[in-house]
Amino acid sequence: MRLALGMVLGASLFASEPVRARKAMVVAQEEHAADVGVAVLKRGGNAVDAAVAVAFALAVTHPAAGNIGGGGFLLLRKANGETAFIDFRERAPAKATRDMYLDAQGKPTQDSTVGWRAAGVPGTVRGLELAHKKYGRARWSSLVAPAVKLAQRGFVLNYSTARSIAGAKVLAQFPESNRIFLRNGKPYEAGEIFRQPELAKTLKSVQKRGAKGLYEGQNARILAEEMAKHGGLITLEDLKNYQAIERQPLRASYKGLDLLLAPPPSSGGVLLAQMLGILEDTGYEKTGAGSAQAFHWIAEAMKRAYADRAEYLGDPDFVKVPVAGLTNRFYINRLRASIDPGKAVPSSLIRNGPPPPNEPSETTHLSVVDAEGTAVALTYTINGSYGNGVAVPRLGFLLNNEMDDFSVKPGAPNMFGAVGGTANAIAPRKTPLSSMSPLIATRDGKLLMVLGAPGGTRIPNGVLQAFLNVVDFKMNMQQAIDAPRIHHQWLPDRLQVTHGVSPDTIELLKRRGHTVAPISGVALVEGIAVRDGWLEGGSDTASRQRGRAVGY
Ligand code: DON
Repeated sequence: MRLALGMVLGASLFASEPVRARKAMVVAQEEHAADVGVAVLKRGGNAVDAAVAVAFALAVTHPAAGNIGGGGFLLLRKANGETAFIDFRERAPAKATRDMYLDAQGKPTQDSTVGWRAAGVPGTVRGLELAHKKYGRARWSSLVAPAVKLAQRGFVLNYSTARSIAGAKVLAQFPESNRIFLRNGKPYEAGEIFRQPELAKTLKSVQKRGAKGLYEGQNARILAEEMAKHGGLITLEDLKNYQAIERQPLRASYKGLDLLLAPPPSSGGVLLAQMLGILEDTGYEKTGAGSAQAFHWIAEAMKRAYADRAEYLGDPDFVKVPVAGLTNRFYINRLRASIDPGKAVPSSLIRNGPPPPNEPSETTHLSVVDAEGTAVALTYTINGSYGNGVAVPRLGFLLNNEMDDFSVKPGAPNMFGAVGGTANAIAPRKTPLSSMSPLIATRDGKLLMVLGAPGGTRIPNGVLQAFLNVVDFKMNMQQAIDAPRIHHQWLPDRLQVTHGVSPDTIELLKRRGHTVAPISGVALVEGIAVRDGWLEGGSDTASRQRGRAVGY
């Protein structure tokens, strides 16, 4: 009885409707970009084509995170079951050194977050090109064209984008950013047309020459020159040498569902595999969505997984990441057994590992499903909102501050409060550890869900809860995204709760020993679920930036 009531209450509290479509769908964080994707699908492009076009469009219409100056991950599952994962994350320039962001006293400086030195070598355009070459079918130039047009002719700024740009203080520090985005102190208002001619020119060159249009030739020279002029580290060689890497997706299962997840250098897949593995046999869901007991289980799972993240995860091409050990059933059973169902274990007492030695050796997300059932989950980023704040003169795009995702010093928290050790220390050409967590779930070979989110270290936890809300609490995709969420990342030892977690629930969590604090949001999830032959699109409205699900 108690069980049934909990389930019903959990599902009925958040009555939002998803966007529904029969054939194909795009969910992205900005409306013009989502529409670009649907137009590509309607013209016969596949999900990869649509994802590429949406990613280029977001670089124009969602400058806080959409980019050609950053990097990300693309997870793909074709209707025939074939899968792929493309890692186009930024890499440390060849001149990077371990202690490059420490001052003479050994203290971390601002340099990993603001300004030219914060940028890793961008990967987006090379990544999109690789994805398109291997898995796309539309003409490349037709996929970049909408972005060129949006940059050249401009687009009408909606309220949230205008407000976001106007409020981006980091942009005011750099003359070119100040001019392009803040109109030298007279920011654009909602309803005005925002044109970006320099960006249009850069995109045109990419449209014509592919990734070479940015990584080699005149544009590369401009970028390298400006870098050198302002003390940045990225050189012509760094640009030329950058390669997107195709990796095997990480696989996991949950209650009979098969999951495709992001492998290292993302921590997201390992975190999700661990958290879901811990929760699977607990019956945590019996007390209902949003109940203190369910949140307690979820929080304790989060703490254990994030403790491992800090110790073991980094770039697999540089350090040995014990993925199989960390996701090993016996190891996960041990983590689960260390959870007290009635009491929070302080983070200081959580020292996991070692995993068994069975080792064989401001971000944005878009989800696409095409009419053939191929699914793409693409998350990409320039890290902080508007990256390092620097718009490259003459090229018109913002650079990332992804170097801050490294542990600039063991134990020193980064901008998301994440700590790490040597596994994620800076080294030349190394990739900083990410939390980006694209996810594709299937049941018996049939597509069930496509998910992902921005939100730094909160991403895996946001994706986890949206997933659980669909699978365990039977919510539709929009309800699953709208439901209140919690966040714990081991350190700091603090359970954060969003608006909507009731005061009584908070009280019960405190009684179990959790230190509870508010948080404005836990990632912004953009997802598609398949139910009864319909695609259900859900888009997060927890931020000022309203996303869009659109399909046909
Ligand atoms: O890769 C990562 O984990 C971070 N650079 C993501 C940053 C992010 O999600 C910021 N957006 N809210």
